[in-house]
Amino acid sequence: MMQVLDTESAAMPAPVPPPVSSARPQMTADLMARTGLDEAMLERLVHGFYDRVRADALLGPVFAERIDDWGPHLERMVEFWSSVALMTGRYHGAPMPKHLPLPVAAEHFVRWLELFRLTAGEVCPPAGADWVIERAERIATSIHMNIETARDRDGRAAPPTPSEPERLS
Ligand code: HEM
Repeated sequence: MMQVLDTESAAMPAPVPPPVSSARPQMTADLMARTGLDEAMLERLVHGFYDRVRADALLGPVFAERIDDWGPHLERMVEFWSSVALMTGRYHGAPMPKHLPLPVAAEHFVRWLELFRLTAGEVCPPAGADWVIERAERIATSIHMNIETARDRDGRAAPPTPSEPERLS
C-alpha cells in the first residue's frame, strides 16, 4: 500500500499553492522569489511613498486638489504595483487619461522618482528595489512624454516653473 502511494506522489507532485491571488500564479511566484517582493511589502511601499508625496511642497498640492479620500486611491495603487511588479493582474484601470490634464512638468517627475527611489530603498531588499524603480522610471517617462505630446497638440502651456521656496523644500 505504501509503495503505491509513494509511486503516485512521485509521478504527480502536489501543486504548489499560489503565494498570492494572481492571474499568473507561477509567474508571480517566480517574481517573488527573484525580487524578494510580496504584497505586504508593496503595500508598505505604496503607503510610505504617498506619505512622502502628501508632505511634499511640490507634489502634495497636485494630489490634494484631486484626491479627497485617500483610502480608495491607496488601494488602487497597491493593486497597480501588484500588477506591475508581480504580474498578478489585480489592477484594471487606465492611468494615462488621469495624468494628461495635470499641471506638471519635468521637475514634478524628478521629485516623484526621488521619493519613490528613497522609499523603495527603505522598504524593499536591493533586488526588489531595483525591480520596482526600473518600472517606475519607465512608466514615469511614458506618462511625461504623453503629457507633453497632449499639451503640444492642444496648444496648452506648461505650468509655470515652481517658485524658489517650493524648489528648496
Ligand atoms: C508628476 C508625477 C505624478 C503626479 C503629480 C501624479 C498624480 C496623480 C493623481 C493626482 C492621480 C489621481 C487622479 C484621479 O483620480 O483623478 C494619479 C493616479 C494614478 N497615478 Fe499618478 N502621478 C504621477 C506619476 C505617476 C507615475 C510615475 C505612476 C506610475 C509609475 C503613476 C500611477 C498612477 C496610477 C496607477 C493612478 C491611478 C489611476 C486610476 O484611477 O486607475 N503616477 N496620479
